[in-house]
Amino acid sequence: MERKKITIPDLYKMREKGEVISWLTAYDFPMAQLEEQAGIEIILVGDSGSMVVYGNDSTLPITMDTMIEHTKAVRKGAPTAFVIGDMPFMSYHKNVDDAIANAGRFMKEAGCDAIKLEGGVRIADKAKAIVDAGIPVMGHIGLTPQSSAMLGGFKVQGKDAETARNMIADARALEKAGVFGVLMECVPTKVSQIIKKSVSVLVFSIGAGPDCDGQLLIFHDIVGLYQCFTPKFVKQYANIAPIILDGLKKYRQEVRDKKFPGKEHEFKISEAELKKLEELEK
Ligand code: KIV
Repeated sequence: MERKKITIPDLYKMREKGEVISWLTAYDFPMAQLEEQAGIEIILVGDSGSMVVYGNDSTLPITMDTMIEHTKAVRKGAPTAFVIGDMPFMSYHKNVDDAIANAGRFMKEAGCDAIKLEGGVRIADKAKAIVDAGIPVMGHIGLTPQSSAMLGGFKVQGKDAETARNMIADARALEKAGVFGVLMECVPTKVSQIIKKSVSVLVFSIGAGPDCDGQLLIFHDIVGLYQCFTPKFVKQYANIAPIILDGLKKYRQEVRDKKFPGKEHEFKISEAELKKLEELEK
């Protein structure tokens, strides 16, 4: 049966029914097609693409234009999933007008259903302005990779009462700004449980424990495609790197052994045309 387009009310209905929402990142058309076929409800076109697709050591270098192109491809591959565009570094930090314009690009040019931005209290004005422009916003607190330099690296956040309290304040500020959901990254389970009780919007986890309305992981991590680093919160569900590597090695060997291309891969021309060609060769 074909799935109908997933909306924010559908996500809230899932919570009402006690169903946990599955959420993955994707960066291109074939990835998005597979996630759509698997029934994944939310797809994030994450600025993590800067690392897992482009090989940078942070999310900072990826641009708005690059994010838009990836998001267009994902949208085509996943027509019914709820697609969220991730606002890249410096696309919403300077001022509210910039934030609205860039969020608008995700909706107008890439066909997104919502955007995500990192930060709580300090970006709540931008989140509110984007919501006021009619664009659904997902907040992102805890470990926010765009500010990893300020956080001292990719570290668990909220391990002491003071930072946990700040995080609760962040979640509340985002809720007040009108976001439909808050994602918590790398947060102790106890803290995410308190945050879930502190807000009424949907709460999502990436490394924030099981007691959330939905779970997010990065595509490359769960299929074993990113070989640089695997965070503790990741579970690998497939290991496709050795399968791909095996295929690549076989291809190389067959090219060297002149086994590829085989007869079945060649294009033929008709006898009549062949005769004409032979004439040309004389
Ligand atoms: O870009 C991304 O994939 C993200 C997740 C790590 C939360 O923001």
